[in-house]
Amino acid sequence: MTQVFVPREIQDGESRVAATPETVKRLKKLGLDVTVETGAGAASHISDDGYGGAGASLVDAASGWAGADLVLKVNPPEQGEVDRMKPGALLVSFVWSVHDPDLAARLADRKVSVLAMEAVPRISRAQKMDALSSQANLAGYKAVLMGADALARIMPMMVTAAGTLKPARVVVMGAGVAGLQAIATAKRLGAIVEASDIRPEVKEQIESLGGTFIETVEASGEGGYAKELTDEQKQRQQEIIESHLVEADMVICTALIPGRKAPILVPAHVVEKMRHGSVIVDLAVTQGGNCELAEPGRVTRHGVTIIGEPNVPAMLATDSSNVYARNILALVMDVVDKNEGGAIKLDLEDEVVDGALIIQDGEVRHGPTREAIDNRGVSAS
Ligand code: NAI
Repeated sequence: MTQVFVPREIQDGESRVAATPETVKRLKKLGLDVTVETGAGAASHISDDGYGGAGASLVDAASGWAGADLVLKVNPPEQGEVDRMKPGALLVSFVWSVHDPDLAARLADRKVSVLAMEAVPRISRAQKMDALSSQANLAGYKAVLMGADALARIMPMMVTAAGTLKPARVVVMGAGVAGLQAIATAKRLGAIVEASDIRPEVKEQIESLGGTFIETVEASGEGGYAKELTDEQKQRQQEIIESHLVEADMVICTALIPGRKAPILVPAHVVEKMRHGSVIVDLAVTQGGNCELAEPGRVTRHGVTIIGEPNVPAMLATDSSNVYARNILALVMDVVDKNEGGAIKLDLEDEVVDGALIIQDGEVRHGPTREAIDNRGVSAS
């Protein structure tokens, strides 16, 4: 019988978990034997009894890793975790192998297989497996709440006996999954919302949420993603956006370009011109940040509070774990054969498996990861 293991996440500040009692029940129905590390759900407010009641066996880390044919995780495994994996086992997790080729090489050396959540193709059929979206959506929501909490003024217009209070002005940079949720959340709180993106197709989506599109420059890349701007385009975008940023009470930064450092959209000299007491929430901080002055944590620069919380989904552990666990379950359902007692079958004809299976039995089959590993070799020599 295929043995699944759900370890407790050990990365600092992590509170999510890759399975919930709801998904454990479904995994059991597939014919899998599910083990969960004691305390794995504690930070997501899921008790060991909750997992036990759903049919999982509670185990310690050593026996969980040693027996696992299928490991379900949130964060990339650390060295000690890779060393504990059984050769031939399958890991399903965020791996970020292109950014961490050393980890990819270690996993390959360990002769395991890896389905990377960040590599699941963003096609309609795979929407239920799309953990990038499920987590970005929650991060966009929480970013606005953090910003509102740090702001010394209210979000909606308020008519009071002492006079009218103006609504806050929010500018959202990047209108992908996180940005659109930030627009919707800020609107619900009563703010005036403007948003900018370099993919012109988002204009309609921004407007349908009640936001105003700030038109700058256009640069759509492959697969519906943005591409890097030329220096001239950057300059033009900067000139247009600056007048909106200096009038804002809150700026939510979500702009990313796949495989690159996040673009700087709020340079230091613009922060200097922003209103005292305004707030920037930079969701791109772990990719270098959209605000030049953002850093992990919270700083105040030129009277502006800059929030660079590195793991926003972990601040909403219950819901983040719920949706992440469902994303993982959907992917597992794609690779497990219920009719054969839960045996793992990696069908490379399946577009989702083909895209997400970055390593198969120690062979790195994901082009960008292979490139990152090779380049590492070049720069090291
Ligand atoms: P992302 O996290 O890669 O980037 C966030 C946003 O930043 C994007 O909208 C991007 O255009 C924007 N951006 C990049 N550089 C910028 C700059 N210099 N200035 C302003 N904005 C900039 O994007 P995310 O949220 O992952 O979505 C990417 C695409 O994938 C979107 O087209 C989205 O609709 C699509 N998508 C498709 C899904 C599906 O079909 N299953 C599911 C989820 C997303």
